[in-house]
Amino acid sequence: MEDLSRRRPLSETRSIRISRSVTLSPLHLFLVVVVLTSFFVNAQSIRFANRIPDPYTGSPNQPLRTAVFALGSFWRSEAVFGCLDGVVRTAVGYAGGSKPNPEYRSLRDHAECVQVEYDPRLICYRQLLDVFWSSHDSRQVLGQGPDVGNQYRSIIFTNGTEESRLAALSKEREQSKSKSSVVTTQIQHLETFYHAEPEHQKFELKQNSLLLQLMGNLPQEELQQSNLAAKMNSFAAELCPPHIQKQIDAKIGDIIKKSWPVLRNV
Ligand SMILES: *[C@@H]1O[C@H](CO)[C@@H](O)[C@H](O)[C@H]1NC(C)=O
Repeated sequence: MEDLSRRRPLSETRSIRISRSVTLSPLHLFLVVVVLTSFFVNAQSIRFANRIPDPYTGSPNQPLRTAVFALGSFWRSEAVFGCLDGVVRTAVGYAGGSKPNPEYRSLRDHAECVQVEYDPRLICYRQLLDVFWSSHDSRQVLGQGPDVGNQYRSIIFTNGTEESRLAALSKEREQSKSKSSVVTTQIQHLETFYHAEPEHQKFELKQNSLLLQLMGNLPQEELQQSNLAAKMNSFAAELCPPHIQKQIDAKIGDIIKKSWPVLRNV
């Protein structure tokens, strides 16, 4: 039988002796590092010199407006608009169909779409239309790239005659660029925008746990309301303009460098 007393316990053979009375096994050390890191990372968070503070409600005499577009998968659509100067909030949802309270698994005749809340003093509807046209292929029939189906069709949802007029004009302009194929985009009066389920909101951002952590792990409602989250969702999808993409990258690098307390002392 093996003499157990001659065997050195694991905690002694592979441990780091911090003082005579405290020893940390590798597992303990790892946990301490994780806890400290998450504490410091959470304590630091991303702040931009931003013209739009969180939460933001616009000016009393020129309130925020909303616009709704369908241009393929709403995960990407939300990221297309989130980084634009003047866009305050984004949300994904369903519109354009007749089924009440559609759900992701049973959309029926609705289309996936993005609702863009914007400050009309900083960005106008016409600029949003330009982004709409330049961010998808309006000539593909019922789909975008590999996403094929009715729910991915291209639609400009309008609310009011001025939006309808601008939408129609922009569609004519788009069609006149090339006559060889037909612009399939529909222009529809917006009846109801149904918010999609929480897991589809800021989807691109949610794929990146480091970014979520850097932002202090905002609760779901804040993610939906936050201007920063809208921007970071675009950043995560690499859909911010290149100079903003770079600027945010640098900022993140900086935060990680400064707030990694463990590595500083190695
Ligand atoms: C249309 O716009 C008005 C304000 O201009 C707003 O009150 C209304 O909720 C909008 N309709 C939809 C369906 O979003």
